[in-house]
Amino acid sequence: PLPAPYTVPLPLPASAEPSRTDATTDYYDLVQRAVDVEILPGLRTPIWGYGGQFPGPTIRANSGRRTVVRVTNGLGAPTVTHLHGGHTPPESDGYPTDLVQPGAHRDYAFPLEQRAATLWYHDHRMDYTGPQVWRGLAGFFLVADEEEAALPLPSGERDVPLMICDRSFHADGTMPYPARPDGPGAQEAFMGGVLGDVILVNGAPWPRLGVDRARYRLRLLNGSNARTYELALSPGGTLVRIGSDGGLLAAPRTVDRVRLAPGERTDVVVDFAAYRVGDHIELHNLLGEGAQARVMRFTVERDARDDSAIPKTLSRVEHLDPAKAAVTRDFEFTSGDMHGHTGWLINGKPFDARRVDARPKLGQVEIWRLTSDVAHPVHLHLASFQVLSAGGERPSGPPEWKDTVELREAQTVEIITRFTGYRGRYVMHCHNLEHEDMAMMSTFEVV
Ligand code: C2O
Ligand code: CU
Repeated sequence: PLPAPYTVPLPLPASAEPSRTDATTDYYDLVQRAVDVEILPGLRTPIWGYGGQFPGPTIRANSGRRTVVRVTNGLGAPTVTHLHGGHTPPESDGYPTDLVQPGAHRDYAFPLEQRAATLWYHDHRMDYTGPQVWRGLAGFFLVADEEEAALPLPSGERDVPLMICDRSFHADGTMPYPARPDGPGAQEAFMGGVLGDVILVNGAPWPRLGVDRARYRLRLLNGSNARTYELALSPGGTLVRIGSDGGLLAAPRTVDRVRLAPGERTDVVVDFAAYRVGDHIELHNLLGEGAQARVMRFTVERDARDDSAIPKTLSRVEHLDPAKAAVTRDFEFTSGDMHGHTGWLINGKPFDARRVDARPKLGQVEIWRLTSDVAHPVHLHLASFQVLSAGGERPSGPPEWKDTVELREAQTVEIITRFTGYRGRYVMHCHNLEHEDMAMMSTFEVV
């Protein structure tokens, strides 16, 4: 009983309201709850949601202003919360074994000494991130700053976060997850990752959104467990990329598609004034077929005044110089034996919270050379990075700040980063969540 595409209105996750605020800090309270929601029209789907919703409430925070999120676990299983893209001290970063037990809570404190960016928070429990995010434990965390606020970019109702993720449903509305009965991750047949045949945007199947004939900023997030998208407008049109995982680009870049692996974000501006009232513009996934090639649809509903603009210069983006790198490290992402069955490994080893695989020095610039067997979207906690090369080629365009990069099949990607802010233990891992749960994760300690 799947709905026809573009019949369900696009939901916008409610913004979280601070429970209190003082001179330095905004405090939020999020309770993780198991609830039934309507995702497919007329059916109830049990989910786990921050604040009982999927996606969870959008937290709107400001750069440099401390934000403390108290997460209370009202579920029947332990959880861990990670702010993806956060420049966060280790005790609040959601290390995969820092469990919050059912009934307990934890205060995650985010100093947010970082640029404006589209971040997101999600579950990060060791061995169970895939099933727990699949059930709904994810939400937006948008950081604003003065530099960005001073720009005439589309804002307010024309600044729309879009969390794209795929799910499957049984006829009764439940979302089945093929968990391994006796251990971490998904069943062997799903080693490649769990895909769904229904594309959800902000938790709604193939939704529709009515828009003005005006510019919109779309904050695209791939919140899928394992699916990669190449997004383009149909019947055609341009996307102006203005932001990446780590905030604004130096200058806008006009493209006809954007590719997003799990965990990645990109901010684009679409000018619906290029269309006429009544036009339908679909967002397609060029990597999908049939229903999975569709994502959502915009309908131009009215003429409207538009004072927004896309400035030629958006931001200053520091260029990390490879000549400054003190160390180069190599990490190989491959499958292999993990305690008697096949798992996903980094440098031949499965994740082990008792082992530290790299000790970068605080303040040090390093080059990390990441090599894949099959495709892996690799995510680093704490440190944003720039891509120096992928498959031997320099990326086109000026450097941008990333926290997740897709290694294509049998590819080496060189990234450069500087470890700043905090000493302590963090992880790097594959953001295909089934790969992550099947141990493709490694601890580094900033010393
Ligand atoms: Cu989005 Cu370590 O995760
Ligand atoms: Cu992977």
